[in-house]
Amino acid sequence: MARPKIAAGNWKMNTTIPEGNSLLTDLLKHEWDTKVSVIIAPPFTHLHSFVQSLAQETRIQVAAQNCAPATSGAYTGEVSVGMLASMGVPNIIIGHSERREIFGESDEMLKKKVDLVLLSGLIPIFCCGEPLEIRKAGNHISYVTNQLEASLWHLDNLDFSKLILAYEPIWAIGTGETASPEQAQEMHENIRNFIASKYGFAVSEQIPILYGGSVKASNARDIFSKQDVDGGLVGGASLNADEFAAIIQSF
Ligand code: PGA
Repeated sequence: MARPKIAAGNWKMNTTIPEGNSLLTDLLKHEWDTKVSVIIAPPFTHLHSFVQSLAQETRIQVAAQNCAPATSGAYTGEVSVGMLASMGVPNIIIGHSERREIFGESDEMLKKKVDLVLLSGLIPIFCCGEPLEIRKAGNHISYVTNQLEASLWHLDNLDFSKLILAYEPIWAIGTGETASPEQAQEMHENIRNFIASKYGFAVSEQIPILYGGSVKASNARDIFSKQDVDGGLVGGASLNADEFAAIIQSF
């Protein structure tokens, strides 16, 4: 079974409501192969109106960028999976390196979040990726597989097969420095083999693994052409409708 091709845009903490609305409107002016799944992750504040305005538009799904590690209660400022589910948000990014680094989210916390997302019937887009010093020391493969093991390896086959993974080397995020297509393929292939060793070949073949880190219209085609790269999780370049549309058209 062919894996889905996915172009996901992570807007991070960018765009006011009017700016977000016009970015979405501009993106919808473009056309693309509807076999490509397009996901955009705007700030929490935009999700409700985006779900409403995209109700008749099957070409784009939304994702939240994060969720709370608990179902409800005294967690000032947090947003629960249940709240997102009740809005009709189908996907949630979990474990982005900015959440891990800036907000100190641990493997254990991410494990909890993944469980909550799956329990509510939503799809986690689970991020992993190594910092520069780990890459330089040549330990990037084991670093990433350890991240996966720590937060995902408790899942059974059925739940694991619902995941979308995103490999995002930290040294390539927002830096303009992209992993080469070969570096991306090497990691994606290792991730897939690692999944196969635990969940079997069939599950490993069906999990979409996205690459993230300075994906642009100019490099997307080369990166997406690699066998184990099923698309991209795009930050900066997703804030420009023409650029992001060109990335969507790069499969
Ligand atoms: P970037 O971000 O495309 O701006 O490097 C990617 C990400 O953090 O998801």
